[in-house]
This record gives sequence, structure tokens and C-alpha cells, in this order.
Amino acid sequence: MKSGELRQKYLKFFEDRGHKIIPSASLVPPESVELAGTQRVLFTTAGMHPLVPYLLGQPHPEGNRLVNVQKCLRTDDIDDVGDSVHNTFFEMLGNWSLGDPASPARSDGSRRDGIGLGGYWKEEAISWSYQFLINELKLDAKRIYVSVFAGDKDAPFDEESYQVWKKLGVGENRIYKYGKKENWWGPVGPIGPCGPDTEMFYDTQPFKGDSLKRGPAEDSERFVEIWNDVFMEYDKQTDGLYKPLSQKNVDTGMGLERMLMVLNHAPTIYETDVFLPIVKRIEDWSGVFNLKSARIVADHLRASVFLIADGVIPSNVERGYILRRLVRRTIRHAAFLKIKQDFFEELAKIVIKIHGSFYPKLEEFQKSIFEELKGEEEKFKKALAAGIRQFEKIKGEISAKAAFDLYQNFGFPIELTIELAAENDKKVDIGGFKKELKKHQQLSRAAGQKTKGGLAIQSEQAAKLHTATHLLHQALRDVLGRHVHQTGSHITAERLRFDFSHSQKMTEGQIVKVEEIVNGKIKDNLKVSKEIMPKKSADEIGAIGLFAEKYGDLVNIYFISKTGKIEDAYSKEFCGGPHANLTNSLGFFKVIKEESAGAGIRRIYATISSKKGKN
Ligand code: ALA
Repeated sequence: MKSGELRQKYLKFFEDRGHKIIPSASLVPPESVELAGTQRVLFTTAGMHPLVPYLLGQPHPEGNRLVNVQKCLRTDDIDDVGDSVHNTFFEMLGNWSLGDPASPARSDGSRRDGIGLGGYWKEEAISWSYQFLINELKLDAKRIYVSVFAGDKDAPFDEESYQVWKKLGVGENRIYKYGKKENWWGPVGPIGPCGPDTEMFYDTQPFKGDSLKRGPAEDSERFVEIWNDVFMEYDKQTDGLYKPLSQKNVDTGMGLERMLMVLNHAPTIYETDVFLPIVKRIEDWSGVFNLKSARIVADHLRASVFLIADGVIPSNVERGYILRRLVRRTIRHAAFLKIKQDFFEELAKIVIKIHGSFYPKLEEFQKSIFEELKGEEEKFKKALAAGIRQFEKIKGEISAKAAFDLYQNFGFPIELTIELAAENDKKVDIGGFKKELKKHQQLSRAAGQKTKGGLAIQSEQAAKLHTATHLLHQALRDVLGRHVHQTGSHITAERLRFDFSHSQKMTEGQIVKVEEIVNGKIKDNLKVSKEIMPKKSADEIGAIGLFAEKYGDLVNIYFISKTGKIEDAYSKEFCGGPHANLTNSLGFFKVIKEESAGAGIRRIYATISSKKGKN
């Protein structure tokens, strides 16, 4: 089965059961997620991530039963990519209940199933998962193993899920009980929605029989984890306590690539249709082939293409740094493979061909994707030349510190250092280097999961800065032109940061003009309102921030107007909130800095304060 068919089958199955199909959110979490009060994370790491505000109770414009395919990126294991199981970018299929209340069990004990019967909780979620696996994907029921939460001091044994699996005919010998490490999901960051989960595994070596020495979670060679149904019943507090959520949610996640691997009896995800054409082209072009490097090039290139389409630009900090690492690793491994061709654009085109029809943004931003990749390649080549000069300065043996400096500051893989050293009859302290690297990886793992800024802000001030961001966005379009659109945004308690498409440095006059417009709108004391409307209508009235996605009918539009009517709104923007109610609560708006944030992208830092001149 190919990826397109699996996505369609999944979406249709849940659509038939009352779910609304919503588009994938960006890999860069929107402001509404950061401002919802959980920890700031760099990337969307699971399908639940962009839905955090709705898991916490904000009504979703499409209702409380949703289904989606979400782009995700996990970089904690970036250095393990290249084996058969690790990769960075992946797609997660998910079906959701946002507090769709569970109805009481029927008196005859029969299963609640289908639409119109009320609730959506453990029984519905698990039964639907099982039906989809068996009836739609035709997996062999005898090869499915499951696990449920065993219970601990924070939450009880998940008896309900256990009983549902039994009722569905899964034998007790195939239901495993595990603790928090295995059967608990979330929160993302230290606080927020989380809960027990039930995981489904597929046996890839059924000939070994069903008396297992190790449970499915301990034997990842034999068992592939295919699906996870999370029951978000708790909200983890800052004091570490698990408080029951007033709204009980279902969050499920099925890795698309893994499921394709299982369905096609493929040995690894790299033999499925989302990777095969890329890997094949790499193989054709390789002067010296090695599987690990080919997989790294395929994985990192795919991830980079998706990141750039979502507005990330290579840099030395945060998201940009992760992208830079991905691109530079791609270049290094392409060099190991002795690829002579100008490979970036050609391989990126293959990625866009594979994914473009489901993710229209890839085609829309294809030019920037090629340009950013090319630009980064040129920068890296320069760094490489500088690294070789640095290498030549080293006298005698290459110490761990020197090898790590080449790795860290000049992007030299240890293999390259060893090669150069051998040519120059020098030794390298490889053991010492590995120790240094491990130390560094532990640090960057922590940094990749979260930024060092602590808890996200959930304050009135942040909501005001968010409203100021909308005014700024529209003012920039007024002053610079309609080509201006947001490519990034980040709000702290002190300031806003706004990235937008525009190629020249702004003049002092333009900055002053933008400030005047925003301050004028603040003074006019406009109302900030929200309207849920069909995406088509939002497009027609000129709302900004919308993308040409295939799915999702209804959207939240925040608008800022004198009368509270959308017809005379100054700003109309697709957004998840939160915002101030009235603009004169914002105070005085001031641009602090305007700078480049990559090719064709400018960045503005701005503040608001209660008194003019205070900034
Ligand atoms: N949020 C769950 C996961 O990522 C479904 O596994």
C-alpha cells in the first residue's frame, strides 16, 4: 500500500464516524500553542502539539471530533539516524476527541460504536483502532499485541482499556501492562495535558510463537509499535501533581512511515514509497555507496525541505540551528557517497513530487526551498575551507579538544578529521573525542526539546503583544506591499519578534510610518473579535495567514475593527488567539530593531509600553 492510499483510508474511516478532517499544522508551533501556557518547544513533535489550546478547553472551529495527518519533527535522536528505525521528519495520523463526552454503557452491555450514539472515550477509540487495523488494513489479528497502563502512585491501572481489549477478543496473554515509562503520554514540556495510553504492536516474527520472553515494548526488533491511543485525562501541574482535566480528550498517533513498512513487509521505512525514490536516486549517483549515509541524506533532506516550507531558515540559533545541522550533515554524507551531481535541487524536487499533492505548501515555496539549500551549501563550503586551514595549524597529535573544535566550529565529522590525519601521518584521540561528543549531545538533547527560557508566558501582556503583532503585520503590508507575509513569530513577556517576507532592509522612514500606523490603530481603540467562518469566505474577504490546504472547512479569523464588524476591519487574520479585547490597552508601540533573518526575510523586534517614550 502506498502513502496516499493509507492517508485517504484513514481520513475516510474517521470521517465516516463523525470526524472533521483538518489540515496539518506547521512544523513551527503557532503563537496560540506557545501562549496556551505549556512549555515552548521548537517543533511540532506529535499530532497533539498544535491542538494544545483545544485540549485545554478552547472550542475548535471544526468541532470536537477531528482527524488529521500531522507533519512532525523529532531531533532528539538525530545522531542515530541511518539505522533502520530512527528518522527525524515523519507524518502522524491521528483521530481526536476534544472532550466529546463519554456516554454511559448501554444496559445490555453492548458496545457503543458509530456515530450518533453519544460518547467518544476509551471504548470508542480502542474499538475503532482495532477495526481499522483488522477490517481496513487487513492486519492479522493474531499478530497484534497491546499494552495498557499498569497504574502507579499518580493514577490507577487502566482497567477500562484492559476490558475493552478483552471484549474485542485480544487474549490476556497478548495484553501487557506497563508503567509510566511505556504507557503514559505527555505532557510536552513539564506541565500540561497528559494521560495513560494503550499501545498497539505488530509481530514481525510470528514464527517465534506467542510465549514471549520479553514483552512487545522490550523487543523492538520483533515488535513494531504501530499505534498509540492516549487518554488525556490529566493536567500535570507545576508542583508535579496530576489534576484530572475537566475535559477528557482522546489523542491517537499512528506513524505513517512505520505503518507503511508493516503493510508492505518492508524491512525498514526507507523501502516505502515516501523514501524509495529518494534513496534510489542517491544510490544511482553514489560513487561509493553506503546505506547509512544514503539514509541520512534522504531523511535530512526530506526534513529540511519541509522545514523551509514552514518558514525556517538556517542560522546559528534555535530552529535555524537544527535546520543548519540537517543541511550540513546532508552535504557531508553526500560527500562520503562521492556524489558529484548538484544534488540538492534534484533531490528536493523528488521530495516535493512525493509529497506535494498532500502538502501544497511545498510547491508554493519551492523557489525558497531551492535557494535556501543552495545558500547554505555555499556557506558550508566556505566553512569547510576554513576548517582545513585550522587543521593545518594543529601541531602533532589531534587532541580530543582539537577534533571537537573542528567538529563543532567547522562542521568537520570525525571521519573527515581521521582521513586528513592519516594523510598527514597524525593520530587522533578518537576516544576522547567521543566522550566530548557525548557530553555535548546530552546538552543539545535537552536544548532540542525545549528552549532555556523556562515556562511560556500566559499573561495579559503576551495577549497584547499578540494583538500588536497582527497590527504590525497589516501595517507592514500597507507600507511595503502585499507580498509581505509572516514567516515566523515569537512573543516573550517583554517583546514581540516578527519575521516576514521582504527582500530589502527597511528604511528609517518606512519604520516610522509603520509605527505611526500601529499607534494610530491603538489610539482609535479598535475592538478585537473572533469569527468562525468557512475558509473560502475568509479568503474572499482577504483574511491573511491562510494556506491553500486541501482540508479544513472552518477557520478562526481574528479581526480588529472600530465597529466590531468584520466589514470595516483593519486587520483580518487566521489565528488561534489569545488577544487583547481593545487596542488602547496596548499602550505605545515601538520598533526596537529591524534586521535580516535570511534570504528574502526581515525580522522586527518591537515592544509596547504604557507610556510614550518609556521604551
Ligand atoms: N501523542 C501520542 C504520540 O505521539 C499519540 O504517540
